[in-house]
Amino acid sequence: MKKLIKRLVKSFGFEIHRISKQNGILDLSKVELIRNSSIDELRDIGFTENLLLRMGLNNEILSQYPEELYQYTGYGLFSWQYPNQFSRLLVKLSEYPIRSYLEIGARHGGTFIIMYEYLRKFNPHFDKAIAVDIIKSDSLVKFTESKRGIEYLICSSQSFRFRKLMEKTGLDLVLIDGDHSLEACKNDFELVRDKSKMLIFHDISSVVCPGVCATWLHFKSIYKSQYDFFEFTDQYEEVYQRTGNSYLGIGLAIKKS
Ligand SMILES: C[S@@+](CC[C@H](N)C(=O)[O-])C[C@H]1O[C@@H](n2cnc3c(N)ncnc32)[C@H](O)[C@@H]1O
Repeated sequence: MKKLIKRLVKSFGFEIHRISKQNGILDLSKVELIRNSSIDELRDIGFTENLLLRMGLNNEILSQYPEELYQYTGYGLFSWQYPNQFSRLLVKLSEYPIRSYLEIGARHGGTFIIMYEYLRKFNPHFDKAIAVDIIKSDSLVKFTESKRGIEYLICSSQSFRFRKLMEKTGLDLVLIDGDHSLEACKNDFELVRDKSKMLIFHDISSVVCPGVCATWLHFKSIYKSQYDFFEFTDQYEEVYQRTGNSYLGIGLAIKKS
């Protein structure tokens, strides 16, 4: 456990506050909440935001979550997202044909699983999903082993193995949420930039992720003629009042056709 905490602190550059034994043991039955919802319901931001709460949130850095959401943390799928941001991203993505998805930094797998289930509802031809992380999640292994078209790589996005895979892979959508340092985030961006029509950055407005914020700003300024950019950066008032800071934040870039 000490080793795991050290690796996480190294990759984020900030303190991980709470890791319990239950962390990362996902309740995979929560995917039924998406499967049993209609397309119209899933296109509704309020409905989807509520669904994300019911599917459960990560609890490793609770201080970044508002107190009113504590009851939804530490269970279910452990997705490390703000529901008020993630719901808006999902509804935006529902407008586009997406057949393949890669997540760099899948952690326990919650966001990856939600993306997989949500995108499949809208895209009958969705047939490829790849999750990458340096730390293995047994729950994600369990989720992926029964499904065709999913690959789960336990390796660094900077490894030879992953670079080799990227050379022969084309994707519709990539989420960059791995090592949040400036150098690593830039490397991930350069590695996938030409491989995907749509790119998502996580933590574009987080005070504790300056490397991600800088990479996103650089992306927006250099490639502004080639992409449309969308930001989902709503905050929770209680967190802002308590800390005076912004956290998380999702950036979506879509290549102009
Ligand atoms: C913030 S967590 C990701 C959360 C997840 N995307 C979610 O939304 O639930 C960051 C993850 O990136 C992983 N990571 C750090 N460096 C990495 C690297 N070089 N390659 C792949 N994953 C990495 C960490 O192990 C950690 O699980």
